[in-house]
Amino acid sequence: RTGAELRALARGTADGSGAPGGSERAVVMTMGALHEGHAALVRAARERVGPHGQVVVTVFVNPLQFGAGEDLDRYPRTLDADLLVAGKEGADVVFAPSVDEVYPGGEPQVRVSAGPMGERLEGAHRPGHFDGVLTVVAKLLHLTAPDVAFFGRKDAQQLAMVRRMVRDLNFPVEIVGVPTVRESDGLALSSRNRYLSRQDRATALALSRALKAGEAAAGRGEEPDAVLRAARDVLDGAPLELDYVALVDPEDFTAVDDRYTGEAVLAVAARVGTTRLIDNVRPHLA
Ligand code: PAJ
Repeated sequence: RTGAELRALARGTADGSGAPGGSERAVVMTMGALHEGHAALVRAARERVGPHGQVVVTVFVNPLQFGAGEDLDRYPRTLDADLLVAGKEGADVVFAPSVDEVYPGGEPQVRVSAGPMGERLEGAHRPGHFDGVLTVVAKLLHLTAPDVAFFGRKDAQQLAMVRRMVRDLNFPVEIVGVPTVRESDGLALSSRNRYLSRQDRATALALSRALKAGEAAAGRGEEPDAVLRAARDVLDGAPLELDYVALVDPEDFTAVDDRYTGEAVLAVAARVGTTRLIDNVRPHLA
């Protein structure tokens, strides 16, 4: 529960007893309500550090990254179930601090600024969101002091922002991205999926279908405009409120132009019922 407890935990052994050095500590940061997507991160972490390494999962619903009118109050909190999932997937330690533990003086005055990338796409629709994310990620990196940290590609812009912060601010940690885990029908797993009604759940499939259509267009060698059109065509007419669909450079999330070649990010965000969903794929542009 506390930073002091974490500090007391010796590095390099699963049980924290402090055996021979040379093994790594991996961290997986989450807001809880753990599902198969989170589980994949924990498994990747376990695989990376091996039986003598240490896997720390953090569970913290970070108020700083929620805007006014967002779902901070109704965000699912299921710590008992989360402990079982984390344990089953091979975590050694779950760090689940209180808000007061993480922000002892209330809202922090000094924060990480996400910069221009933090104002694009997700950032444009959620002002201040990435400042809040990067501030807590920085704090959790200091608290957990890992060698390696795992993030999902489901939140592609978040992953890019964390990589950028680590580079710009010299955090001594390796960042590993993990592919998006989906339901068999294509819906990307999300803690927020539990808010979806049956009807919403069916509507939500338009997101992954649109991305698939865009990816297929890219596979046929189409230009960015046509890739976007293919995705938009699927979303048009679906009973959802589209925030954006965009084809961007994975490094900085600026829109790609016709001359761009290589891997791009095709990202979508929409409100389905009262639930805001995001998803993305990585088409290759020739
Ligand atoms: P949360 O939404 O709980 O996600 C925690 C981690 O799980 C993130 O790295 C996210 O990308 C990954 N993840 C979520 N769904 C996934 C899926 N379907 N497939 C693969 N990975 C998935 O992202 C956050 O929490 C917070 O912003 C956090 C980084 C913890 C900072 O508060």
